Amino acid sequence: MEITPERDRMSNLNARQRLRLISPSPDNPLATLADAVRAGLTARPKQLPCRFFYDAQGSALFEEICSVPEYYLPRAERQILESHAQEIVELFDGRFTLVELGCGNAVKTRLLIQAAWAKRDRLLYIPVDISPAMLEKTCLALLGDFPGLEILAVAGDYEAGLACLKIACEGPKLILWLGSNIGNFDRAEAEAFLARVRQSMTPADRFLVGIDLRKAPSILEAAYDDAAGVTARFNLNILGRINRELDGHFDLGAFQHRAVYNDEIGRIEMYLVSRSRQPVGIAKLGLEISFDAGETIHTENSYKYSPDEIAALAAASGFTVGPQWFDAQHLFCTTIFKPQ
Ligand code: AVJ
Repeated sequence: MEITPERDRMSNLNARQRLRLISPSPDNPLATLADAVRAGLTARPKQLPCRFFYDAQGSALFEEICSVPEYYLPRAERQILESHAQEIVELFDGRFTLVELGCGNAVKTRLLIQAAWAKRDRLLYIPVDISPAMLEKTCLALLGDFPGLEILAVAGDYEAGLACLKIACEGPKLILWLGSNIGNFDRAEAEAFLARVRQSMTPADRFLVGIDLRKAPSILEAAYDDAAGVTARFNLNILGRINRELDGHFDLGAFQHRAVYNDEIGRIEMYLVSRSRQPVGIAKLGLEISFDAGETIHTENSYKYSPDEIAALAAASGFTVGPQWFDAQHLFCTTIFKPQ
């Protein structure tokens, strides 16, 4: 019998054969849109969890945000990864497995896959994303472009992501958490989440985290309230989603997008502001919510960090700061967190 080298065997498989897609059922009671909307819109002040931004339309709108001129984050992070992808993959001698928490369209991840691919005959990529539609699209595109890539795609939230870190695979893991996704956690939650990631890591694993830096409020507020109104549509889409999935009666034109930077706390806060006093029915929940004129729904926080805060976060969650890189304008920071 002839033994086919691994690389050839892999490239003989078509894209579908190199993809396994799983969707573990969420175990968080507020994981469903219905429960989160009921809890959030009957609370005072009203709020909605930002994880519900990402249905198929919301994920597409976020992709659009990534190309508006004011939203500098993806460009700054890309610049860093372009310059240092080689160095990053060289943190490992041989094979490693790439895990990504919240992969989105994975355009920046391509830089790392490309760099890893140059020296290795195959690579297992385990992307986790809350949007099944985005996840599938991303994976099929990657598989078409990288013939040696094998993907275990996980449609789920960060709990599912943590479970993936426990999957036994060949070699150490490089865990990616790009795009300042960490920003949606408050500082205590971020520390607790990092500590949990740390608990699931072996000493040889590395955690690469992209974090947006504290900076002038004017730059931040423009980034979250772009002139073309894409971020406004992204924010309002959460009401559209409630209309679509829960038979809600939100008039999107009756709410306004607002983004403010709280310099003291170091976070962008996003709100939807009711333009008038209005009742809104949500049929599938049997609910009628009343809004005062000017009343807000708090939809997102996006925390920013100073380099000192990043160092303190690492120390508090069981890591040391490994290599760390900044873009030329010091807008964004990419840090390798090494188990202590
Ligand atoms: C995907 C959470 C990193 O906070 O910058 C972008 C989401 N919200 N514009 C961010 C977002 C409005 C984004 N993250």
